[in-house]
Amino acid sequence: MKVQFLDLGKQPIANRFITDSEKDSEFFYNLTVGFDNSSKLITHMDYVDPPMMFNESYTYRGSMSNTMVQHFKQFSENFKKSYNPKSVLEIGSNDGVFLKNWDVDTTYAVEPCGNFAKETNELGYVTYHDFWTRTLSEFIKNEHGSMDLIFAANCICHIPDLDNTFQAVEGLLSRNGMFVFEDPSLAQMINTNSYDQIYDEHPHIFSVIALQNILSRNGLTIVKVDNTPVHGGSNRIYVQRTSDVVSIDASVRSNIEFEHMLGLDNIETFIAFAKKVEQSKKDLITLLTRCKQLGKKIISYGATSKSTTVFNYCGIDSSLIDYVIDTTPEKQGKYTPGSHIPIINTNKINSDVDMAYLGAWNFASEIMTKESEYVNRGGKFITHVPLVKFI
Ligand code: TYD
Repeated sequence: MKVQFLDLGKQPIANRFITDSEKDSEFFYNLTVGFDNSSKLITHMDYVDPPMMFNESYTYRGSMSNTMVQHFKQFSENFKKSYNPKSVLEIGSNDGVFLKNWDVDTTYAVEPCGNFAKETNELGYVTYHDFWTRTLSEFIKNEHGSMDLIFAANCICHIPDLDNTFQAVEGLLSRNGMFVFEDPSLAQMINTNSYDQIYDEHPHIFSVIALQNILSRNGLTIVKVDNTPVHGGSNRIYVQRTSDVVSIDASVRSNIEFEHMLGLDNIETFIAFAKKVEQSKKDLITLLTRCKQLGKKIISYGATSKSTTVFNYCGIDSSLIDYVIDTTPEKQGKYTPGSHIPIINTNKINSDVDMAYLGAWNFASEIMTKESEYVNRGGKFITHVPLVKFI
């Protein structure tokens, strides 16, 4: 049974950056989050229908951040050295940021967003324009055989039905094959109060504890966990069919022990988290309002899904933030979902800006290096992670 502990209010589709004419017809839903008593999963009380989010208009491009390009390159090199997989499937291949590290002839992809499926098909990777299900998994197995590596980054936490998802993986893995997936870590979210990891596309925020419960009931076992710094702290989970498991790395136990210490199996932890989220909202509005009263020009850096949650939960709009800058061509010239702040096309922070809220706080070091001129002239960055403050 799910018990609600957090209400982030009315929210729009987080990655649906809108045009002028769409401002009056936006879809909103109530973003409420609960704790599942039996699996210990943190999950939305109600799910947004996936085709509402993942379609031809999807704008997020993994390759817009050099950090992510390097992250997937590094993983691919290491995995090839250790396991040398002969067949690879990526679930949720986006713009091919991971695929590009693998051989076109033996690497397949699944991507529900038509614009990106077309792009990676054109790159030569057979890409199924569909959602990941048991039916699709069986179809792929008939076409190409079983897979030595099934990979998914920032995708499994997007899928409401985890049992079907994991059964689909279990059926397609080859003998001794590995399923590797990475998503934002619940431990990191709780530790850094980064409640903006929660939005429509993230119906679940995973603990290793909850994943172990759900994977094991679907014939799968976690054999290793890597903690990676991307997306504000993620876990990369290595999984095998339970019948194939030979050994389990010590990282599985240490992560689970750490999560027990944080109380991630206890609703009380999340009730306390919800109080901190409310405080963060008050603090951010107070800081932005004071700066605005002092005549400061404030912008936001990175038109992220995360900032959709923050802006709509806190009621931040263009009266506080003049505009957002983002390098993604598909986002430029549009408006932020719900809050309707314009997104402009610029390579660098303009010289008249005093403060920049870090919508992409997870790329703080990449951004601050790029914006050294702004930093050197006294420009300030604002974040709410882990506390509302200037960096
Ligand atoms: P990300 O944090 O991955 O977004 P989400 O919350 O949607 O998962 O996205 C970072 C966004 O910031 C992405 O739209 C690209 C943009 N960006 C810049 O505009 N400039 C930069 O230097 C970096 C690193 C990212």
